[in-house]
Amino acid sequence: MPHVKNINHVAIVVDDMEKSLHFWRDSLGIPLHEVRDVPAEKSQVAFLPLAGAEIELVQPTTPDSGLAKYLAKRGAGMHHVCLEVDDIDGMLAELKQKGIRLINEEARTAADGKRYAFIHPESASGVLVELYQV
Ligand code: CO
Repeated sequence: MPHVKNINHVAIVVDDMEKSLHFWRDSLGIPLHEVRDVPAEKSQVAFLPLAGAEIELVQPTTPDSGLAKYLAKRGAGMHHVCLEVDDIDGMLAELKQKGIRLINEEARTAADGKRYAFIHPESASGVLVELYQV
C-alpha cells in the first residue's frame, strides 16, 4: 500500500523574489541553495533547504501561467504543500478510488526526473497538495 513519507517542500508564490529573499534568507537566516528558472512551469524558483525539507519561493516569469493568474487574483502567499510518497502511481489510483479530486490524473515528470501530481484543494481542506516521488 502506497504511503506518505515526509513533507518534501512548502511552496510560496511571490511577486518580488529579492524582497522575499530579504525575509527568508537574510532575516530568518535560512541558507539559499539556488535560484533556478523553470521554463516548463514559466517560473523562477528559489530553493531554501531546511532539515530534510525545503521552502520554495516561486515567482511566475510570464503573465499567462496558472501561477501568474493565482498571484494576480490572491496576491503573494502560501501556494502548496508537497508530500513525498513511495509510490505515486499507486497513491493516485488509491485517491481516485476514494473519490478524491485530482488535478493531474497521471503523474508528470519534471526536468530532474522527479515525478509529481497535484491534488485539488477542494478535496484537501482548501490546500493545494503536491505529491512527489523522488
Ligand atoms: Co512544488
